Amino acid sequence: MSSGAGPQYCVAPGGVVTGELTVPGDKSISHRALMLGGIAEGETEITGFLAGEDCLATLRALQALGVRIERPRPQTVRVSGRGLEGLTGAAAPLDMGNAGTAMRLFMGLLAPQAFDSTLIGDESLMRRPMERVAEPLRLMGADIRTHEGRPPVEIHGTPKLRAIDYALPVASAQVKSAVLLAGLRAFGRTRVTEPAPARDHTERMLSAFGVEVLREGSSVAIEGGQRLTATSVAVPADFSSAAFFLVAGCLAAEHGLLLRNVGVNPTRTGLLEMLRLMGADIRVHTPRQASQPGGEPTADIEVRKSRLKGIRVPESLVPLSIDEFPAFFIAAAVAEGETLVRGALELRVKESDRLAAMAQGLSVLGVENQLLEDGLWIRGGAALGGGTIESHGDHRIAMAFAVAGLAASGTIEIRDVANVATSFPGFLEIARSAGLQIESA
Ligand code: S3P
Repeated sequence: MSSGAGPQYCVAPGGVVTGELTVPGDKSISHRALMLGGIAEGETEITGFLAGEDCLATLRALQALGVRIERPRPQTVRVSGRGLEGLTGAAAPLDMGNAGTAMRLFMGLLAPQAFDSTLIGDESLMRRPMERVAEPLRLMGADIRTHEGRPPVEIHGTPKLRAIDYALPVASAQVKSAVLLAGLRAFGRTRVTEPAPARDHTERMLSAFGVEVLREGSSVAIEGGQRLTATSVAVPADFSSAAFFLVAGCLAAEHGLLLRNVGVNPTRTGLLEMLRLMGADIRVHTPRQASQPGGEPTADIEVRKSRLKGIRVPESLVPLSIDEFPAFFIAAAVAEGETLVRGALELRVKESDRLAAMAQGLSVLGVENQLLEDGLWIRGGAALGGGTIESHGDHRIAMAFAVAGLAASGTIEIRDVANVATSFPGFLEIARSAGLQIESA
């Protein structure tokens, strides 16, 4: 766990949120646009790129693998693709920082290369499970070592992988994506079957780069050896970053809060349904369908202060809102009555153990809760107090408790918030512009 050192937030109690805002670009899509751009033929232009630390780790790793990348503007990136076989070995271990997505997708990308690679990360990433990706890649013939299941990940490049038919044991977009990326260099047809739908950005973007992606029910398959053709990628605002303001709006947007150009891929928007089940007043203005094949739908979303009531979260919504639970648990703390989430074991292996971190923080604020093996029970509706919250170095825990300030009766201090910059650079300024009374200390 993090030591709790580093910058902190100090959030004054109460306040209202209002106005219009656009949160930064989608993290998942920005990672994938860089990676697919790197192995495509031609120049890929990415606009709306998330210049957060996680995606910058991917950008730097690709540069270390020989990919030329320019950033004419902070949110515009041009990637000169090296083709499927054009990456070159890096001189040093590739540092993925805090980014689990970067490490897991790079495992799939680097396993079939003609050179060796070592992947490392920060304190949090070095504790996260990597066998879930290494195992299916080994079935394809890859030579990968983890250390008791964790990084560093040592990859001995094996250019001749074989296709597999793989049933994912958990609904994980990262594992699915790693297998598909390795499948690009495998002989035969690689097929992945999901137990429940996980985000499908990789499949969509492979199509956008001209790869034929075969979807059949809960399976997705690609034929190995297909070339990628460079394209332009317009990255929408990140639904997972918008989530904090959706909850803030439910708590304190008396006159409404408008979030612009948010990505509303249905494999990401489970939180909308969960909040609506709680009684939230949320309007999704006519979604704009993707302008090109393989693109992503976007919409403006308006939210108003609502009387929330506790719910039992349908398990089918868990994978569709997996990154939004920290924000959701704050809504549950304010909602009248009991909220129960089960089937969310995956939350224990995110940037922190998010079930434990949220339970601990809610207890500090005086919210009655019970930590379950695979979920959390919360009795909401009583006034939230103030106190000092440990973020455990987890960006989403930090931002969730910043939003809690809107419903608190005392000051909330949040420790160790530096990692907010991994997914949401400029959070403080945007949060303040919406009305949150938050200072950095
Ligand atoms: C991501 C997938 C999810 C999510 C993560 C980003 C991705 O993880 O939690 O923040 O970009 O593929 P899992 O696929 O492990 O559930």
